[in-house]
Amino acid sequence: MKVMLLNGSPHETGNTYLALEEIAKTLKEDGIDSEIFYVGKEAVASCMSCGACSKIGKCVITKDRVNEFVEKMTEADALIVGSPVHYAAATGAITSFLGRAFFSGWRSGKNTFRLKPGASVAVARRAGTTATLDQLNKFFTISQMPVISGRYWNEVHGLTAPQVSEDIEGMQNLRFLARNMAYFLKCKEAGQKAGINPPVEENVNFTNFIR
Ligand SMILES: Cc1cc2nc3c(=O)[nH]c(=O)nc-3n(C[C@H](O)[C@H](O)[C@H](O)COP(=O)(O)O)c2cc1C
Repeated sequence: MKVMLLNGSPHETGNTYLALEEIAKTLKEDGIDSEIFYVGKEAVASCMSCGACSKIGKCVITKDRVNEFVEKMTEADALIVGSPVHYAAATGAITSFLGRAFFSGWRSGKNTFRLKPGASVAVARRAGTTATLDQLNKFFTISQMPVISGRYWNEVHGLTAPQVSEDIEGMQNLRFLARNMAYFLKCKEAGQKAGINPPVEENVNFTNFIR
């Protein structure tokens, strides 16, 4: 089983990376593979709402790593998103990246996200973490993804790397999160082996509240 660890920081090996690395190490101890996937330093365009993904099964914008991520995510079993806090929110890059990844993944008709557990981690010098977590978790909760938690909100604190490594409680909480994720994945696998299948989806009623 494999967990995608999405690094939404402009710093490839900054504090967010160190947080995800702690999760990766703990998952490995529990027998779960993972991959840290970097969104990159270059600008990430937001969704153009062109609808092309419904026809071609992937995002029409190819200048960044969104399609590569969606392909890997379709094969993976779970997702943990890490973002630094920028002005009490997730970064613009990860917001654009996830918007296109979730929309094109859904429109591709492949099972990219449904019923795969998700979690998010916010990295900040000081504040804005819980608003960031709320923002990131909304991608999971519109996609039928169970949200996994730790024993505190998933936040670690530091300004420049490797300062988050000194946030003893925050890093410990990430290990709680990783172990809870591993436990959930094993339960899901055991359920599938015992013949418990995902629920069959009804035909969806898609309305704009009125018609
Ligand atoms: C543009 C910008 C805005 C930021 N806004 C916040 C903020 O609102 N709250 C906060 O605590 N830290 C803020 N920070 C600090 C980062 O969240 C912090 O340095 C974090 O550890 C960076 O993680 P990284 O090394 O993965 O990029 C901001 C940093 C930048 C560059």
